[in-house]
Amino acid sequence: MILSDHRPNPLRDPQDRRLPRIAGPCVLVIFGVTGDLATKKLMPAVYDLANRGLLPPGFALVGFARRDWEHQDFAQIVHNAVKENARTPFREEVWQQLSEGIRFVSGQIGDDESFATLKSTIADLDEARGTGGNHAFYLSIPPGLFPTVVGQLRDHGLAEEQQGRWSRVVIEKPFGHDLASARELNRVVSSVFPSSSVFRIDHYLGKETVQNMMALRFANQLFEPVWNNNYVDHVQITMAEDIGIGGRAGYFDGIGIARDVIQNHLLQLLALTAMEEPTSFEARQLRAEKQKVLAAVRPPKRMDLHTARGRYVGGWQGGEKVAGYLEEKGIPADTKTETYAAIRVDIENRRWAGVPFYLRTGKRLARRVTEIALGFKRAPHLPFTATDTEELGYNALVLRIQPDEGVTLRFGAKVPGTQMEIREVNMDFAYGGSFTESSPEAYERLILDVLLGDPPLFPQHEEVELSWQILDPILDFWAASDDRPSDYDAGSWGPRSADEMIARDGHTWRRP
Ligand code: BG6
Repeated sequence: MILSDHRPNPLRDPQDRRLPRIAGPCVLVIFGVTGDLATKKLMPAVYDLANRGLLPPGFALVGFARRDWEHQDFAQIVHNAVKENARTPFREEVWQQLSEGIRFVSGQIGDDESFATLKSTIADLDEARGTGGNHAFYLSIPPGLFPTVVGQLRDHGLAEEQQGRWSRVVIEKPFGHDLASARELNRVVSSVFPSSSVFRIDHYLGKETVQNMMALRFANQLFEPVWNNNYVDHVQITMAEDIGIGGRAGYFDGIGIARDVIQNHLLQLLALTAMEEPTSFEARQLRAEKQKVLAAVRPPKRMDLHTARGRYVGGWQGGEKVAGYLEEKGIPADTKTETYAAIRVDIENRRWAGVPFYLRTGKRLARRVTEIALGFKRAPHLPFTATDTEELGYNALVLRIQPDEGVTLRFGAKVPGTQMEIREVNMDFAYGGSFTESSPEAYERLILDVLLGDPPLFPQHEEVELSWQILDPILDFWAASDDRPSDYDAGSWGPRSADEMIARDGHTWRRP
């Protein structure tokens, strides 16, 4: 008797998702090619895709910026960025093929003539390189400039999709600086591009380990039964960085860390941790589940007790003397911007009621680590003496997003040789130890998805709005307060106020 048939069903599973996906002919235009993101991530990712054979021969890369460069100057810039930052080894033959399709347009975004030049450059490429009239416009520029660029693309007929050709726009977070500005931004972008052609990048969603969260939760039977408030006591989501703000004072001081990463990366991690199982991993279904859970998140009930913010002061970090935030170049003396933020939110649904979710992030912390830790309730009864279990904490399942990607399960085990003493131990899965393939960079995956028009990893406007609805009241509370963010030492784990915040609930932050 056949109990179940697990053979692939070609009608139900039309695609074998193990196979590499190769982009079709197209031009990728990057605005803001002189910026950090383009140099460190975007240009290297394009090369890595080419190196992995995932870009077609009919591919071209166009840079748009104010510099007075010729095509070959820009090609040299891309070459340097690739040599310095690409993940895969440099191969001359791959570079040669890629560089033949590299062009540069020197222009101003407010200038019609520059866009006319861009249009003719793209048309020439379509003709000469067979890029098929398909165009992706990557706006790696401050959000304040988005309206001008999308307006120019519309006015020059570059946003039109005709006869099966596509035109897509890629925007980087921050998507606005609060709910109202996010709505306005969306209004402007969607007046030019249909929502299916707008790709919002939250690069955390492109990380392999973030996608592994879905595999861990939904490909296994083991975790689901305990993935709820019957077993989970609380959840800690941490994104700690050891770096400061680098050369990004202008960007960072205008927004602070809560807008920079809680609104997007951390709330997306929360959504993937807490959402229900989607009926498929198709974009519509996945987004529906994320939206449902984000809509159930309540901002902190007591802003004074359930939020904390801090700002690093200079000192020694990892054997290096580092400046405090106020001493960083370009930071005004009277700034109130936070470089550390911690919040507690609750999710009002049947699965999570009563389980606090603690989110924290900061610059210049003790080390770079991103993880999601589910802390479990204590066993209802311990048939041991008090001294047996003195060293036993709570069980935890930790999804290690980066670095040292993997999963840790922490539980109690008997100390050998003792009559009975229980101590915490870790059981570890490390990506590096189990797979020989190395993980692609998030931007490789996301750029490829843009070129393929594959939307699941890109948040929709609705998710962006819901995230601002969670964050706005916190930002308003901080803005209205006379207090400055509390100081913390560079190289520490953040301000004392954050320890006090979580201690009020009887917990402590993990020290990963
Ligand atoms: C970006 C933030 O989105 O993420 C930066 O704007 C932050 O401030 C960066 O440094 C961290 O990314 P990653 O992939 O290194 O964790």
